[in-house]
Amino acid sequence: MALVETRSDGPPRLLAEALYSQAAMHAEYGGVVPELASRDHIRRVVPLARQVLAQAGATLASVDLVAYTRGPGLAGALLVGAGVAVALASALDLPALGVHHLEGHLLSPFLAEDPPQFPFVALLVSGGHSQLMDVRGVGDYTLLGETIDDAAGEAFDKTAKLLGLGYPGGPALARLAALGNAQAFALPRPLLHSGNLDFSFAGLKTAVATQLRKLGDDPSERLRADLAASTQAAIVDVLAAKSMRALETRGMRRLVVAGGVGANLRLREKLDAAAARIGAKVHYPPLALCTDNGAMIALAAALRLQYGLADVDRSGAFDVRPRWPLADVGGGGAVPPPTAIS
Ligand code: KG4
Ligand code: ZN
Repeated sequence: MALVETRSDGPPRLLAEALYSQAAMHAEYGGVVPELASRDHIRRVVPLARQVLAQAGATLASVDLVAYTRGPGLAGALLVGAGVAVALASALDLPALGVHHLEGHLLSPFLAEDPPQFPFVALLVSGGHSQLMDVRGVGDYTLLGETIDDAAGEAFDKTAKLLGLGYPGGPALARLAALGNAQAFALPRPLLHSGNLDFSFAGLKTAVATQLRKLGDDPSERLRADLAASTQAAIVDVLAAKSMRALETRGMRRLVVAGGVGANLRLREKLDAAAARIGAKVHYPPLALCTDNGAMIALAAALRLQYGLADVDRSGAFDVRPRWPLADVGGGGAVPPPTAIS
């Protein structure tokens, strides 16, 4: 949940943000149970809205637009957010705007101190998606490549589970990997030389399972750390190589990285080094805004509003889109960088 303010001389500014993480609940069940997730959303959403307003020293009277995540995602959880947002907007006689979850991730680096300029290549790496996009402006997204099976975050989560680590697996695997030797195990780099910009991570999970079986029932902490480090290196190598190829094939020198896996420090190191070699620059959202958050949704809505691309609705009716390709969000066109908006 978040409150942002549009500005005439730059990208929107974050006034307040609060997050209620369900990680502890998901951890208890080893993953997301959709029905429990949406019931918990219902309990949290109104208190969180109050908290954000209080934090910003604002009231509902200062709100001009209510944004919510329209998709993609779990229908039950989406319906809670959409229902509350549209009800609030109707009660206040305000427009409501449904935002694409990945557009939120993609634009989140505009909340960083050194925001990017359009156009750029975006690497979107979350628990559900691994995509490379050509981003010409707000709403103007062309898919360059994507995973043909597991997402990068899924690869982290599934291999973490194999190693007996908790949920979410990404940060846990990264912590263990920091203690290990990334050269210890030779793991595959799927599709590294495929010549296209697609990814595949399912085979990596199988390779890790095979290595673990070879190590027997009770591998030492050292060996588990080595395997975690080798897994992380395999994922990071492929993501970095494909991102550089995307920059080269599009003739661009700006890369934006977003989504939960964008919080991975090894990935950041590798991308920064690879980009420096070709004279490119990598932009990230603030570390805390890599994983799912309300700030990126409010920001995407504010940017759409600022660019005249907000397909706002005052009818009080709404739908959610559990499946919704990012390239279908529409509204795009070559646009000036935010700093040039008047
Ligand atoms: O974007 P996100 O918060 O939620 C989705 O939209 O899916 O991404 C969550 C994913 C999970 O798979 C999680 O394990 C991964 O991001 N993740 C990480 C790290 N932090 C979160 N993966 C690797 N290293 C991290 N530090
Ligand atoms: Zn996400």
